[in-house]
Order: sequence, then structure tokens, then C-alpha cells
Amino acid sequence: MVNTKDTSDLKESSSFLSRVDFEQNGYETARPVTPLGILVQQLEQILNTAKTESVSTEFKTSLEQAYRLAAGLDPYLAECATAESPALANLTERTQQEDWSKRFDDGETVKALEQEMLSGHIEGQLLKILVSISQSKRVLEVGMFTGYSALAIAEALPDDGYLLACEVDEYVSQFAVDCFAASEHGKKIEVRVAPAIETMRELVDAGESFDLAFVDADKGGYIDYLNLLLDTDLLAPNGFICVDNTLMQGQPYLPAEQRTDNGEAIARFNSFVAKDPRVEQVLVPIRDGLTIIKRK
Ligand SMILES: C[S@@+](CC[C@H](N)C(=O)[O-])C[C@H]1O[C@@H](n2cnc3c(N)ncnc32)[C@H](O)[C@@H]1O
Repeated sequence: MVNTKDTSDLKESSSFLSRVDFEQNGYETARPVTPLGILVQQLEQILNTAKTESVSTEFKTSLEQAYRLAAGLDPYLAECATAESPALANLTERTQQEDWSKRFDDGETVKALEQEMLSGHIEGQLLKILVSISQSKRVLEVGMFTGYSALAIAEALPDDGYLLACEVDEYVSQFAVDCFAASEHGKKIEVRVAPAIETMRELVDAGESFDLAFVDADKGGYIDYLNLLLDTDLLAPNGFICVDNTLMQGQPYLPAEQRTDNGEAIARFNSFVAKDPRVEQVLVPIRDGLTIIKRK
């Protein structure tokens, strides 16, 4: 099974390939980490094989059509969405240029991070629209990485808006804070460096409440994060929750025996949500899947 975006099951080979990329190109080449990206890669491989085999012209034409249909979707979505700000484009570039494998090997990050963790333009734009139409003022982010989604959301918040980002890794937190400093919206963001569940419990004790929670950290913690949000006042009465990677590269709907730990955690989370009488929800098949959840 291909590597997942989350770090807990990063394969050694991926770290090795990243190093080779870095030495050859000066930056890592992004791997496909979404069901669509993986489908495109597989169609490309089949197409290349078909070119060397004696298959009918009709078969090759159909295959090419299927490939174009899949490969054209993400670039077209990017073309149709509002362009990202220079600050977000710059944050993406800096994230791509960082040698994350080396940072982990050198012990500078506590987790094996990788550029594929960044959510990016389309998902960032969806989050911005959701924040604007819901008129959210206070947002809780669980899992910040280099801060793409945090800064995108902050751009959509009013001047007195506030985003609290939970991140466990000190190095990446400082990386994000440096990027936020380049944007006028960075001042709306506060970062707490600790395991998210600890920060969330402190927030509950302090009586804090949020209009939107964006959950994008360790997949095994998703059910606990959801329960804490719903069982306390942490989520405001009319608040909503966006949960990332709920398609986890297609693993929840592919044969169960092929799942990684993250795939299993997401499959469990999705069926937990589907059966939860407290909420209504929809899984939007954007990037690696984004589930939007609200109280009934
Ligand atoms: C997928 S990335 C977040 C991506 C980010 N939201 C974005 O859109 O670019 C997940 C992040 O969660 C962090 N993380 C993992 N487990 C965590 C935990 N228990 N508490 C807080 N942060 C955690 C990781 O260090 C990583 O930076």
C-alpha cells in the first residue's frame, strides 16, 4: 500500500527516496497522497505498459480518455478556485524546500514530517469559504504542520478573529510562526505546542469555545477529539467541525486487509461518525477527503 500523508506509518524507503530526490534536485518530489492522485499514477503506469503491449487502438484510446479525465481534475479545480495569496504561496514553497527527512534524522523534529502533509490551495480555499459564510470568529485547529490551513483560515477571519492552533512539534511550530509573520493575518493566530488532547482539555477547563474546529492531526486520536468537542462546550452550540483525510487514500473503502494503521483509524472514525446520533455530516471528496460535521 502507498504511504499515507500522516507520519506514523512512513516507510523507510520513502525516507531514502526523499534523500535521493534532495541530492538530485535540491527539493523533494511530492508523492500522490489522495485517492485521485494515486488513481492518476496507476492509470499512467497502465497507459505506459499498454504502449509497449499489443493492445487494440480502441483499448488505448479508452485508457487515454480515462487518464485525461482523472489527471485533468485537480489542475482544473485549481484553475477555477480563487487564487491563493502570496503569503500562502510562499509558505507552500518554503515547505517544499525544507529537507524534512534530514530534520527528523537529525532529531530536530519529534515526528517524521513531510511536505505532503500540507493541505494546499483547494482545501484552503474551501475552508476560507466555510469560515466566511458561517461568520466564524473563533477557530480551533488540531494539527498545524507548517500552517497552511491556519493561515488560510486566518485570512477569512474578521480583524478581531482568533485561531488557536494545536501542534506537538516545536520545530514545525516555529517554522509556521516565521511564515505567519510575513502576513498581516498572522496576528490572529496563536500556537500551543503540546499534544492536542492536553491543550483541548485545558481549553475546556478554561471555558473556551470555538465556532469551527479543523481536525488534522494523528488519525488514531480523531474519535477522542470529536467526543471532547461534542461532549463539552468546546464546540459552540452552532459550531461545526471539519475533519481532514477522511478518505485516507481510499483505504476505508478498499479491502480491509490492505489498510495501514491510519487507514484503519479513519475507517473506524468514519463508521463511528456515520452511526453517531448526535451529529449530521457529509464527506466531501476533495483532496484526501474532508468531512463536515455539525450537531443535530
Ligand atoms: C497533516 S499535518 C497538518 C496539516 C495542516 N493542517 C495543513 O493544512 O497544512 C498533521 C500535523 O499534526 C501534528 N500532530 C500529530 N499528532 C499530534 C498531536 N497528538 N497533537 C498535536 N499535533 C499533532 C503533526 O506534527 C503534524 O504537523
